[in-house]
Amino acid sequence: MLKARLDLHRLPRHVAIIMDGNGRWAQRRGLPRTYGHRAGVESLREVVRACAELGIGYLTVYAFSTENWKRPRDEVDILMNLLVEYLHREIDELCANDIRIHPIGRLQELPVSAREALEAACLRTRNNHRLVLNLALNYGGRTELVDAVRTIAQKVARGVLSPGDIDESTIDGHLYTAGQPDPDLLIRPAGDYRVSNFLLWQLSYTEFWMTTVMWPDFRRVHLLQALVDYQRRERRFGGLVRGDRSCSGTGS
Ligand code: FPP
Repeated sequence: MLKARLDLHRLPRHVAIIMDGNGRWAQRRGLPRTYGHRAGVESLREVVRACAELGIGYLTVYAFSTENWKRPRDEVDILMNLLVEYLHREIDELCANDIRIHPIGRLQELPVSAREALEAACLRTRNNHRLVLNLALNYGGRTELVDAVRTIAQKVARGVLSPGDIDESTIDGHLYTAGQPDPDLLIRPAGDYRVSNFLLWQLSYTEFWMTTVMWPDFRRVHLLQALVDYQRRERRFGGLVRGDRSCSGTGS
């Protein structure tokens, strides 16, 4: 059993997932792409439940990127409807599992129905602490940095922040994920090896785990495989391998 191979004291604090492959999964079955998104919601439910059960503190899922508006109108509408449906259908279970919903992205540009469902879900789950579920919606890593830089620049212009005092923690503190640990593990299903404008700042030292499994087929077992593999990695954060003082380098 995979769970037995996990050291529950060394789990990643924060897992991020690029939920990719929905469209291809559907097309391979001769179905419209949107069936893949619907099936992908089931994978999301299972992974959220598993993360909460294991005691992972933060899960960030890439649900809609700033580039996804380029998709056909029907597909965009269905994705927004799935979000609203997910929030309505899951809210009781999210609360029962002590999960807090935290959307990240340019939320003001989402349709009203999505914004209202998100607001209601945030309000209902605001006192939950076991797992923070970051839903990346109209999210782009570059837009996140632009938004952070704008806010910082406004503070400088108002004289409440001096340029010389800006450091990494200032940037961190102005991201949508302010106050959260950076992801320890990024999971990308569906076989591509790209970051796709996801969490560009936060992924600096994140371990990547890729699989050819499509997101709608992604199950708890795949999450456990990723976690077991993660626990085999030696994370150095630019330092030395434990016990090896002869290593040098720029950092990896
Ligand atoms: C990428 O697959 C996936 C998306 C753009 C959307 C992900 C959304 C869901 C899993 C469901 C809805 C989310 C919530 C929060 C309820 P793709 O369509 O790019 O797949 P492809 O690369 O095979 O075309």
